[in-house]
Amino acid sequence: MKVLGIETSCDETGVAVYDTALGGAAGLRAHAVYSQIALHAEYGGVVPELASRDHVRKLLPLIRQTLAEAGLGVADIDGVAYTAGPGLVGALLVGAAVGRSLAWALAVPALAVHHMEGHLLAPLLEDAAPEPPFVALLVSGGHTQLIGVEAIGRYRLLGETLDDAAGEAFDKTAKMMGLPYPGGPQLARLAEQGAPGRFKFARPMTDRPGLDFSFSGLKTQVLLAWRDSDQSEQTRVDIARGFEDAVVDTLAIKCQRALDAAGCDVLIVAGGVGANKRLRARLTQMCEQRGGRACFPRPALCTDNGAMIAFAGALRLAAGQRDGAAIRATPRWDMALLPGLGIRDS
Ligand code: KG4
Ligand code: ZN
Repeated sequence: MKVLGIETSCDETGVAVYDTALGGAAGLRAHAVYSQIALHAEYGGVVPELASRDHVRKLLPLIRQTLAEAGLGVADIDGVAYTAGPGLVGALLVGAAVGRSLAWALAVPALAVHHMEGHLLAPLLEDAAPEPPFVALLVSGGHTQLIGVEAIGRYRLLGETLDDAAGEAFDKTAKMMGLPYPGGPQLARLAEQGAPGRFKFARPMTDRPGLDFSFSGLKTQVLLAWRDSDQSEQTRVDIARGFEDAVVDTLAIKCQRALDAAGCDVLIVAGGVGANKRLRARLTQMCEQRGGRACFPRPALCTDNGAMIAFAGALRLAAGQRDGAAIRATPRWDMALLPGLGIRDS
């Protein structure tokens, strides 16, 4: 089954074709992402109305481009999967309207995909993917969650952030230190040159039991350290390093706890912050030490993309799940409410 995937939940337009007959990494026939970063940069954050309008401009050309790269015509598509939430409602509506209408015109099934399930399943798009049960760490700009995955589609929330998401903390901290939007990857790049240990920040909520996170206090600590410093270039990179180490340590401690609680040694990591090199190295080492492994998507599939939506949709469509004719946008959507893979959606 060849599934067209469409992602428009925030500031990236993503399109992909996933072929279940090929499976694994080979199943990804083509994918393309158009990032709106330059459009939003001058505002220091995503402007929802501009995002929606840009998705309108870019989505159809990107679908044509992706199909051409896959060597397919539109009539070869057997199903359409689009992100229905969570996300910005106007942005979601663009992908939902195009995706559902295209499926209607082609007389093929359509499915509304949960953006975070897309992220969560992205590591399984790589070769030698693990089978559930495992623990998933979802670290994006909007979410920081630990999830127990008993089977694909059966997700149990083990812990989550009480305030800022990890990516949001990266972005806000970067902004405070004068880095351009989106600051997360820029801050990570600076941290590579920073001296470890010159700035030591808290590892929030690691001194008490539990699997929840809190990153807003850490951001304030960094602000105070930066404000009271000489604000030299060296100080900037050293603070970036201290901040990154604090986030990576905190995430690693909680992942270890979650694996202990779940009685499992396989961790999958997804979402934009999953592209962070130090986080990848640290979690890999932690899992190997306990005889397990940590699995990540390739960095390009950590941040928002159409491949993860095509893949998540393809698994569900291939299992017989289908949506009605309605165009669906669900800005707030609890992942625990998703049906299991074996259960047909009504
Ligand atoms: O998953 P994603 O593309 O969008 C959401 O669904 O939120 O994640 C974007 C987030 C941003 O906060 C960005 O700063 C962060 O991921 N990010 C990183 C890195 N690359 C992206 N944070 C730290 N290190 C990175 N290398
Ligand atoms: Zn995302």
